[in-house]
Amino acid sequence: MSDNKPLQHVVLIGFMGTGKSTVGKQLARRLGCSTCDVDAEIVKREGEEIASIFSSRGENAFRAAETEALEAVLSTRDTLVVATGGGAVLAPANRELMMKNGFVVALTADPEQLIARVSQDPDRPLLEGNVRERVYKLLEDRKHAYDFAHLTIDTTTLAVEEVVERIAQAMI
Ligand code: S3P
Repeated sequence: MSDNKPLQHVVLIGFMGTGKSTVGKQLARRLGCSTCDVDAEIVKREGEEIASIFSSRGENAFRAAETEALEAVLSTRDTLVVATGGGAVLAPANRELMMKNGFVVALTADPEQLIARVSQDPDRPLLEGNVRERVYKLLEDRKHAYDFAHLTIDTTTLAVEEVVERIAQAMI
């Protein structure tokens, strides 16, 4: 890669429970590159768990840390498959950064499928309380938040391998 060429990562976006991290790991294996999970990067950089950042410093502090982590990850020289958090697309500057530095893939799934998936992993501060209500409310709030992607894949009925294959084929 020449010094002037924009970095071409694969950036996975999508609502909580769409499978970004799982797909990210398998896609990286398929493409022969590394993967990076922005949430994990935030925890590493801040020395604090996501839920703890939300409760001790609030969502705005989390979003600031998320933008910093995203900038750091996307400026990595080696090509990465980057799994972002579901709200990383909310800041217009983040969306611009993703589009400029990568092939952006949005993963979607039916609401009930999302609810089933996130219920197995309750460690999400924005879903505290009534998970079903929270998911429907946030889906409404974020109706068009993921529309800017280069490619969108509905994962509702697809195995992880199929999702990976579709992304890999789209990149040829
Ligand atoms: C969030 C999604 C989470 C995490 C944080 C906020 C969101 O990541 O970044 O809890 O705003 O949608 P996942 O999408 O990986 O669950």
